[in-house]
Amino acid sequence: MASDDAARSASWKEYYAKTEERPPRETLIFALDRFEAERPGKPGFAADLGCGGGRDTIHLLRRGWRVLAVDAEASAIETLRARGDLPPGAALETRIARMEDCALPELDLVNSSFALPLCPPPKFHAMWERIIACLRPGGRFSGQFFGERDSFAGRADITLLHRHEAEALLSGLQVEMFRETEEDTVTPRGKPKHWHLFHIVARKAESLPPRAKA
Ligand SMILES: C[S@@+](CC[C@H](N)C(=O)[O-])C[C@H]1O[C@@H](n2cnc3c(N)ncnc32)[C@H](O)[C@@H]1O
Repeated sequence: MASDDAARSASWKEYYAKTEERPPRETLIFALDRFEAERPGKPGFAADLGCGGGRDTIHLLRRGWRVLAVDAEASAIETLRARGDLPPGAALETRIARMEDCALPELDLVNSSFALPLCPPPKFHAMWERIIACLRPGGRFSGQFFGERDSFAGRADITLLHRHEAEALLSGLQVEMFRETEEDTVTPRGKPKHWHLFHIVARKAESLPPRAKA
C-alpha cells in the first residue's frame, strides 16, 4: 500500500541520517585487509548490496576501490550521492534496485552489511548463488546472515538461518571469518532488538591450474 511504502521510506531515511557517519563494518575492514595483504596497493571492484547511507561504500572508495552501490530505497542512494566526504573522482556507480533484481558484473568483493537477509526466503538462495557466481577467483563476500533467534523471527520478508544452514551456504568457500553473536540492543531508530547474527567473510578459491598432460 502506498502509505506503507511512504512509512517504510521515512523510516529508512531516519536510519540513514543516524548511521551514515558511522565507521565501516568490521567484516568489510577484515575483507579489505585480506586483499591488501594478498595484493598490496591493488584495489578491485566491489558491490555494496543494501548500501544504505554509504558507511561501507565510502570506506571502499577511500581505499581506492571501484564500487557499485545498490539499494532498494531511492533515499539511500540520494544520501550516498549527497555526502560531502565522497572522495574526488570516486569510481562510484549506483543503482536504485532490489538486489534480487540487479544484474551483477564480475566482482572482487560483494559486501552486504545487515542487508542480504532482507531478501525474502523464496529469493534468498538464488541471490546467494548469484553472489558466488559473480565473484572472480580469489574474490570475497563480507557481511551478515541473520540467525533463527533474531527478533525478526516470524517476518515473512526476512531470511533467518540456523547455524547449519549458514555453514552449508559457505561450503566450497574458504571461510575466513565465521562469528556468531547474540545481543540485545536498541536500534538506530530507537527500538529494542535481539540480534542473532553470523558475521561472515568468505573467499572463493582460485581456480586450479590446468593439469599437466601425462
Ligand atoms: C539495515 S540497512 C544496512 C545499511 C548499510 N549496509 C549499513 O551497514 O549500515 C539495510 C539496507 O538494505 C536496503 N534493502 C533492504 N532490502 C533490500 C533489497 N532487497 N535490495 C536492496 N536493498 C535492500 C534498505 O533499503 C537499507 O538501506
